[in-house]
Amino acid sequence: MCGIVGYAGPQSPSSTPLEVLLEGLARLEYRGYDSAGVALVTPGGIASAKRAGKLENLRTALADDPLPDATAGIGHTRWATHGRPTDENAHPHLSEDGRLAVIHNGIIENFHALKDELLAEGVTFRSETDTEVAAHLLSRAFAETQNLTEAMRTVVARLTGAFTLLAVEAGTPDRVVGARRNSPLVVGLGEGENFLGSDVAAFISRTNRALELGQDQIVTITAHSVEVTDFQGNPVENTEYTVDWDASAAVKGGYATFMEKEIHEQPKAVADTLLGRLDDQGRLELDELRLDTAVLKRINKIIVVACGTAAYAGHVAKYAIEHWCRIPVEVELAHEFRYRDPVVNEQTLVVAVSQSGETMDTLQAIRHAKDQDSKVLAIVNTHGSTIAREADAVLYTHAGPEVAVASTKAFLAQITAAYVLGLYLAQLRGNKYAEEVAGYLEELAQLPEKIQQVLDGADHIREVARSMKDVPSVLFLGRHVGYPVAMEGALKLKELAYIHAEGFAAGELKHGPIALVEEGTPVFMIVPTRRRPELHAKVVSNIQEVRARGARTLVIAEEGDADVEAFADVVFRVPETPTLMLPLLTVVPLQIFACELAGAKGLDVDQPRNLAKSVTVE
Ligand code: M6R
Repeated sequence: MCGIVGYAGPQSPSSTPLEVLLEGLARLEYRGYDSAGVALVTPGGIASAKRAGKLENLRTALADDPLPDATAGIGHTRWATHGRPTDENAHPHLSEDGRLAVIHNGIIENFHALKDELLAEGVTFRSETDTEVAAHLLSRAFAETQNLTEAMRTVVARLTGAFTLLAVEAGTPDRVVGARRNSPLVVGLGEGENFLGSDVAAFISRTNRALELGQDQIVTITAHSVEVTDFQGNPVENTEYTVDWDASAAVKGGYATFMEKEIHEQPKAVADTLLGRLDDQGRLELDELRLDTAVLKRINKIIVVACGTAAYAGHVAKYAIEHWCRIPVEVELAHEFRYRDPVVNEQTLVVAVSQSGETMDTLQAIRHAKDQDSKVLAIVNTHGSTIAREADAVLYTHAGPEVAVASTKAFLAQITAAYVLGLYLAQLRGNKYAEEVAGYLEELAQLPEKIQQVLDGADHIREVARSMKDVPSVLFLGRHVGYPVAMEGALKLKELAYIHAEGFAAGELKHGPIALVEEGTPVFMIVPTRRRPELHAKVVSNIQEVRARGARTLVIAEEGDADVEAFADVVFRVPETPTLMLPLLTVVPLQIFACELAGAKGLDVDQPRNLAKSVTVE
């Protein structure tokens, strides 16, 4: 949460530090959009501007009241934790003398005690944020050391919690100093300019060379140098890597919204995630896993930890992995796993699923699992992210950057990667013959084309969605792998259209939820393939049960399934596909439905209220 960007480089007529910061913030705005601000080091001292609301408000303010030329600067886009989203609480926060500015991502947990201490010393606070204590502490430490890096070192030793901090100081105009603990920070390496960012999107239009920063490290950038130390001041060597997507991957490319674009990128996300996983003999080969095969053969339980959409991908994977590998799979929300007393040991494989690789709840869950000697495998989309680095093994999804806050293509890529993992385990542990594994892989390989067919026939879904923009509540029902799809459909509608929505297991209906159904209640039903007649028949009965009570039934069923027609008010068709592959198709109409309905309500589909793409606080 919160987007952070830092820049040290020249002021040139074609590109100014302010423009670099604003461009970085525009690309990071998906991380939070409650307010935005910048601070520049100028010949006359620190110049700053900040505004509540989206970045556009800051741009307008800067157009009315431009800032002077600069040599370095910092920028921030906020997802509010401490203090409402006001101008005062927006970052940067300045020291009392205005010579030092700080931005922050995370939560300083001991800020109350530090604030009391500073208040007792007579410091005046201008905001309600936890961040402002860091600005005052840094200013005091700088007064003693006259060195911003050393001052940062002094201050981080006093902070608890999670933080990425960036600071600039008026008397050292060539540099930006950053520190990170439990919160992301990446260095961008340019020619005669250097960058800091919450993620590579902050600088991807200017360089694709990046440097991973480890936990508890401090970095000082100037236009020509990057120095990294640990919190004690010992120099550390970090790994440089090349970012494998370019700036064009993070623009809308002709679509009205990022979400629409990302929905349409799903065939490619699935195809790319499957790419390059086979050896010459057609056997699955996952070299990138970095995990001893002997360990994988020994595991007797898998626990998937994740949040939100990523957790629903885990739910889908549970059905497949248990079926293929005969290993018990539990799926648990990462924040619940972390604070109970889960039974895990060295024979447990914890699978963390995360698009961003920075979700704090998931990160804490994997640390908790590792503390108890279990092995952690991460299914992650963002290269070099904290979860990818801290896990024992990593299987990357290749969905490309996902910018819209609502996850779409990452969900499909996560299911695909989890299936690849399941098939790999089945192959390794001898649960499936090579031909069986190859057969499932072939079914997976057909999905990009089938997803494309759903996308090509989506006008009907859009039309229905627009006609439903005023409904107060929608229910989603599914069985087997259709159950997590129902929950995902409900989540999409809640987060995008702010409509009450619930996803249920269809079999649970008669145990309570059916009481919600009244005349006209819209109920989505995700119908299993007829290849599983026992499942299919049950869901067809469930459709009749809700219809008998007045529900308006919106049915997602495979081509040629005539059994549903008599009981469906609306049918959305998906191509025929085996049971376990069906979620990759049936979720697509639900994504399009939520996106279109939210658009019809005039809502911001890419940046829904109160949310942020990357949830880096617990
Ligand atoms: O980056 P992650 O996959 O770890 O994020 C997990 C959830 O925060 C995320 O899926 C969230 O639920 C999305 N807003 C759903 O659309």
